[in-house]
Amino acid sequence: MPDRVLITTADLEQAVRSNAALEAAGADTAMVSSFDDVVKELRRREPDCVVLTGALHESSATQLVAAARERSISTLGLLEETEPDAKTLARELGLTGFLVKPVEGAEVAATVRRLIERRRLQERTGIIGESPAIQEVLVKIEQMAPVTSTVLVEGESGSGKELVARAIHDLSPRRGKAFITVNCAAIPETLLESELFGHEKGAFTGAAERRLGRFELADGGTIFLDEVGECPPATQVKLLRVLEDRSFFRVGGVQPIKVDVRVIAATNRSLKEAVGLGDFRDDLFYRLNVLAIYLPPLRERRTDIPMLVRRFIAEFAAAHTRQFQGITPEALQILVDADWPGNIRQLRNLIESMVVLAPEGEIRATDIPKDIRDHGRGLPVRVVAATRDAPGKELEFIFRTLVELKLQVEELRRRLEDHPQRVEVIEVGAHGAPPLGPITAEEGADPIVYRRGMTMAEVERAAIEATLKETRGNRRKAADVLGIGERTLYRKLKEYQLA
Ligand SMILES: Nc1ncnc2c1ncn2[C@@H]1O[C@H](COP(=O)(O)OP(=O)(O)OP(=O)(O)O)[C@@H](O)[C@H]1O
Ligand SMILES: [Mg+2]
Repeated sequence: MPDRVLITTADLEQAVRSNAALEAAGADTAMVSSFDDVVKELRRREPDCVVLTGALHESSATQLVAAARERSISTLGLLEETEPDAKTLARELGLTGFLVKPVEGAEVAATVRRLIERRRLQERTGIIGESPAIQEVLVKIEQMAPVTSTVLVEGESGSGKELVARAIHDLSPRRGKAFITVNCAAIPETLLESELFGHEKGAFTGAAERRLGRFELADGGTIFLDEVGECPPATQVKLLRVLEDRSFFRVGGVQPIKVDVRVIAATNRSLKEAVGLGDFRDDLFYRLNVLAIYLPPLRERRTDIPMLVRRFIAEFAAAHTRQFQGITPEALQILVDADWPGNIRQLRNLIESMVVLAPEGEIRATDIPKDIRDHGRGLPVRVVAATRDAPGKELEFIFRTLVELKLQVEELRRRLEDHPQRVEVIEVGAHGAPPLGPITAEEGADPIVYRRGMTMAEVERAAIEATLKETRGNRRKAADVLGIGERTLYRKLKEYQLA
């Protein structure tokens, strides 16, 4: 299908020149004289791109660019040579791209092509955003996808790191092969190594069969090391070796295993800082940080919020088969101004709850929870707000909170189902044994983690280790807590080589 392009005629000469070059390049073009007509044409013709040849300081130009943006249509502005600060003007208008006049028709045609390709890339990857930051991320994804170099993705929680990692994989020649996720923070230290590199039969008690690790499962494809900053030092050394020569040993193995795996790592804390603090090996950091993508928090790219909001409304209205009219300008402004500590994930979840709950089939300012209206600095559950409101409001608040909780649980479930290899976390209590005195956050017992496929022996070993940590090495107390005899504990310590 040819690219469909609308060209405004504010600068007729530029328009004619651009039109000729675009037509020669095979585009389906139309020239439109007034901005108002362009807005109408946006609806009728659904173009891929609009070229604004002049009059960009007029308020109707701003409206046109906004209308195009909402429909995910790219805009290219041709700015005057006399314009003192073209870049700022382009940013203020929200143009997808700009060129400074005089411009050759061929350059316009080539730029239009690039903008349209970028847009299609967004559609393929699901990465929404027109801000310069997101545009830069998209360019990087395009550049990084074809090669095998390691990529480090940094950004706050919920800012889209996993989405970016998947996009790189999906656009790479490896797309037909596995994309394997490992959450380094969620797997206990004792299991991480066998999880990553696999183990041989009999490597440790309970290793009844040979088991392939994630690196082997990802052979030919991509491994995504999420929260890589949380890797314990011992595993960091092993990762370094894999990155250096793409080979490793299974736990208990003597044959080096060679794999062809692309590594993408993510972290929501600055790895460089972690290196400075001595928590992360600098040599591993440099190995991971060959190519880097930084995702700025949503509050630093607020211009993306309206587009995200509209997309999420459309998505959830369809998913919940709700007739939905959208959002009032006032409500949208509140969302644009909010802080979003949980970034896009938080925005997405909120939109889902509002689409389900908004009584008028439209999101209004009053539908937005108070903590978000107060710039979103509040707690996710707004207890204070409820007590001040009338009883009806209170019920509505409780209902809303329940729905939000439900959505959060569903999101968790979805994430687990999406990534069955991720862990399920079960906290194991002290089996009714008498408490051992207060346990502070720092010295508190690690949650014992169960993952599908774990053997009973592995669970037992992890339980013993955690209990010993909790009792600060006191074996008698540990045996008590575990509800087994001291002698049994000694035997097991020996068996699991924990003694
Ligand atoms: N630019 C974007 N456009 C559309 N949706 C996005 C964008 N960025 C993130 N999302 C959505 O927001 C949610 C969170 O994104 P993702 O899981 O990639 O974040 P993350 O950085 O990996 O978070 P965490 O650090 O908590 O693991 C997902 O539902 C994702 O699809
Ligand atoms: Mg993630």
